[in-house]
Amino acid sequence: MSATLLAGPPAAAALLEDARARASRLARVPQLVLVRVGDDPASVSYVAGKQKKARETGLQSHVHVLPEQTTQAELLALLTALNADPEVNGILVQLPLPGHIDEKAVLDAVRPDKDVDGFHPVNVGRLWSGQVGSGQPGLAPCTPQGIMALLDFYGLTVAGKRAVIVGRSQLVGRPLAGLLLNADATVTLAHSRTADLAAVTREADFLFVAVGRTHLITPEMVKPGAVIIDVGINRLEREGQKAKLVGDVHPDVAQVASALTPVPGGVGPMTIAQLLANTVRAAEVQAAGQA
Ligand code: GUN
Repeated sequence: MSATLLAGPPAAAALLEDARARASRLARVPQLVLVRVGDDPASVSYVAGKQKKARETGLQSHVHVLPEQTTQAELLALLTALNADPEVNGILVQLPLPGHIDEKAVLDAVRPDKDVDGFHPVNVGRLWSGQVGSGQPGLAPCTPQGIMALLDFYGLTVAGKRAVIVGRSQLVGRPLAGLLLNADATVTLAHSRTADLAAVTREADFLFVAVGRTHLITPEMVKPGAVIIDVGINRLEREGQKAKLVGDVHPDVAQVASALTPVPGGVGPMTIAQLLANTVRAAEVQAAGQA
C-alpha cells in the first residue's frame, strides 16, 4: 500500500477562488501590506511569493522593505501609520526580524483586525475561546488554518479522532492545537521534551509534524492508516547539485500511512492561499464595521 498524496495546489486554488469571489463583492479591492526588514534570503523569497500570489488573486499588495539596521522605533512608527490607513486591510511583518528588534513588541503593535498572521494576543485569545471560524471577528495563523482547509478539501474529518502534533511553535503547533480542538478532535501536543515520542505518535489517527528535522518520523512511529501532515521544511545540501527541500517525515512512511502531504507542494501553497483568504476576511469585517 502507498499513501494517497494530499497535494496542496488544487486545494489552494479552491481557497483562492473563494477568496477572489468574496473580494469581488466588496466595494474596494482588499489591500495587503507586507513588511520585510533586512535581506534574509528565505524572507526575500517568501515575501516575493506572497506578493505574486496576491496580484494573481486580484488583491492589491505593497511591500515595504526596510534596511537591516532599522530601529524598533522606526518599524513601530511604520506600523502606526499602516494601522491608521483606511486603505490598508491586512498587515504582515515577515519573520524572523533582526536580533536587535523585539519581535513580540512588533507583533503586538499590529492592529488586531489587520493582523492577517493571527499573531496578536487578541487573536490568539479569540482562537482559544473558539471564536475563530464562527463568523465573528478573529484571524488565525495561516499555516494551521491552511492545514485545516487542506483536510477539508480532501474530505478528511478530524471530529472524534486522535490528533497528535509534534512541535509547539507560535506559528504552527500551538494554533493548530486550538483549531483542531475547535473541530472536535482529541489533541495531544508533543515537543522536544516529550519522552517516548513514538508511543505518542503511534496513537495518532492524524499526525502533524512541524519541527524542522529530517526523517524525525519513521514508519514504526506511525499507526497503520494514519493521515500524516508534514509541515517541515529542511534544505538537504547535496554535493555538486542544488539543495533539495525535504520534510520531517521519512519517505518510507508512505508505506504505512493512508494519506500524506508531499514536501514541497503540500502545506506550503496552503499557507499563502490562507494569507490572502485572511486578507479578504479582514476587509469583510472592516467593511461591516465589526472590528
Ligand atoms: N516566517 C515564516 N513563516 C511566517 C509566517 O507565517 N508569517 C510571518 N509573518 N513570517 C513568517
